[in-house]
Amino acid sequence: MADLRTRYLGLRLPSPLVVAASPLTREVACARALEAAGAGAVVMDSLFEEEVIEDARRRAADLQKDIDRGGTQGRHPAGGGCLDDYLERIAALKAALEIPVIASLNGVSASGWLEHARLIARAGADALELNLYAIPADPRVSAERVEAGYLEVVRALRRELTLPLAVKIGPQFSAPLHFARRLAQAGADAVVIFNRFYQPDIDLLRRVVVPRIQLSHPQESLLRVRWAALMAGRVELEIAVTGGFHRPMDAIKALLAGAQVVQMASALLERGPEALREVHRGLDGWMQEHEHPDLDAFRGSMSYLRAADPGGYERANYREALHGFSLPPDLCP
Ligand SMILES: Cc1cc2nc3c(=O)[nH]c(=O)nc-3n(C[C@H](O)[C@H](O)[C@H](O)COP(=O)(O)O)c2cc1C
Repeated sequence: MADLRTRYLGLRLPSPLVVAASPLTREVACARALEAAGAGAVVMDSLFEEEVIEDARRRAADLQKDIDRGGTQGRHPAGGGCLDDYLERIAALKAALEIPVIASLNGVSASGWLEHARLIARAGADALELNLYAIPADPRVSAERVEAGYLEVVRALRRELTLPLAVKIGPQFSAPLHFARRLAQAGADAVVIFNRFYQPDIDLLRRVVVPRIQLSHPQESLLRVRWAALMAGRVELEIAVTGGFHRPMDAIKALLAGAQVVQMASALLERGPEALREVHRGLDGWMQEHEHPDLDAFRGSMSYLRAADPGGYERANYREALHGFSLPPDLCP
């Protein structure tokens, strides 16, 4: 068996296959099964500041109703609720697993990011992934302002916490490498590329906007592989990839491009721990076949810095791909 151990965020992982933020860690039993199948770490589903606020409001309203009715059993809104559940889950996962537990946070306000990150650190998480997911829907807000806001969050958390920080970003940046560099300067340890944004759909019958979650397709992994290759060794961050990693070959490509770890969610939601076991087995088999004793023997060998034809990751490839496309002969009879 090849040596699949790796380091990520200063932590020791038995494999580079990480369970991506998702409901998969809501049950300890499920997280355990994924660990047994070869997961190197788990990322918990995000704690959303908005939910914590709504939860506190709802419970404060319940308490008030209770008091108005003359009840004496009023539950205090500061205790219990989704925040406490989340913190308790960190402790439960830490107690049940040997692999690292990475918490995930999606904040709204500066104080919310900070306060919740502190609580997560105190609850014993091994690292924190920041889910930077805000839709810039206001046309008056420039790209600079959006980026400055993100960087300020990272800086503020870095000043306060010693916890390793990964930052999960979406693909919609004009200059992802430059932004990644600035994340490193702000104190991030890793960048997670790229979140998948769930596109709201329009229901044609009812003419309403409806939420739609569609699981990913392996084709989507190529966007991540390309940017991992472009970033590897050129930004002072470890790179985690997420989005479309279903098969051993998808994970192998990401590692060749320079990713430190490969996160998986959709494949596991579709097929359970067996999907992780298959990728683990496939990666191990491929490394043995190619006589790579460990991950460092080949990681990054297809990155922009080290590939024989780095131009392939740039524009040259785009023109070739377009010009090389031939129309089927009987397309327009
Ligand atoms: C049902 C579901 C829930 C998710 N919840 C979160 C979340 O709470 N926080 C987060 O950062 N990403 C979340 N994600 C995104 C995944 O972590 C992952 O980045 C994305 O699904 C792409 O990976 P995949 O192609 O392996 O699914 C979720 C994805 C799914 C499918």
